[in-house]
Amino acid sequence: MGLLTRRRTVVGVVIGRRFDGRPCIVPWPGLVHLLLAGVTGSGKSGWSAALIGVLAADANTVIVGIDLKGGVELGPWEPRLTVLASSPGDATRLLARVYELVEYRAAILRAAGRRHWTPADGPAVLLVVDELAELAALDNHVIAQALRNPGKEATAAIKQAREEVGLRLGLLASITRLARFVNVTVLCATQYPLAQVVPSELRSNLTGRIAGRVTGREQVEVALGHGLADVVSPDSIAVSERGVAYVLGVPGYELPVRCRADLVTDDAIAARAAATAHLNHSEHEVFCDEA
Ligand SMILES: Nc1ncnc2c1ncn2[C@@H]1O[C@H](COP(=O)(O)OP(=O)(O)OP(=O)(O)O)[C@@H](O)[C@H]1O
Ligand SMILES: [Mg+2]
Repeated sequence: MGLLTRRRTVVGVVIGRRFDGRPCIVPWPGLVHLLLAGVTGSGKSGWSAALIGVLAADANTVIVGIDLKGGVELGPWEPRLTVLASSPGDATRLLARVYELVEYRAAILRAAGRRHWTPADGPAVLLVVDELAELAALDNHVIAQALRNPGKEATAAIKQAREEVGLRLGLLASITRLARFVNVTVLCATQYPLAQVVPSELRSNLTGRIAGRVTGREQVEVALGHGLADVVSPDSIAVSERGVAYVLGVPGYELPVRCRADLVTDDAIAARAAATAHLNHSEHEVFCDEA
């Protein structure tokens, strides 16, 4: 169901359908990092559900998530997630752990004189960030607290929160720079494909693009890439075309291809998460934490 296998090894995932009727397939493991952009209600969480829903059935895939909208986006997948970070502090910690995992795997490859992680070396990892803008924002609790009790302590707390934002974005950029060779793939969803939300270093590492309806040429350029606003007009996806997006930058998608994500309803998510919960990997197994 959506997983493509060759000699019993997973090689790809069907996540939607192209408008020419062919399936929209992305390779797995070893998928490029993805930027998933589009206005609210355009179907970003639908696309990520299409990917997670298929990968959930693969015992050799670990899924971790960051959802700073209080878990409304990824919470339903929790039974099949190794970690779900739903507070800024937890997100920073998870990013640090994923970064360490990437470094650890890279060191193993270096020691073995190899360039690529294989399924036999350990599970593929998907890190889903929904919504990226929340990761780049100050912790609202800190701001609310500071407004209630202004003073030196509040100022220090805001400074620290600001530093944490830098830390999170820095870790995410570092993960995307290194992770692909070690089968750790990052999917970042955002409603705001803008330079301040997707900084240029991060953007250049998120080479796969899935762009639903966006508004304005700048958003097309951030969502799909420089110069693409001349090819794809911002209003070429109607408000009513939920789940429709241009896919670009994954093998077979050298030019933007219009596709629609396979719809996974809320009930289907709950059923899929419950049915695959037994395939979940424990945190300690994945992150090699010290006891
Ligand atoms: N592939 C699809 N086919 C048909 N309908 C879809 C599809 N994907 C999403 N939808 C419909 O569009 C609605 C909004 O989709 P979704 O929640 O994925 O948007 P979003 O881009 O994540 O919005 P937000 O930025 O607010 O999180 C869904 O509730 C669903 O009804
Ligand atoms: Mg969403």
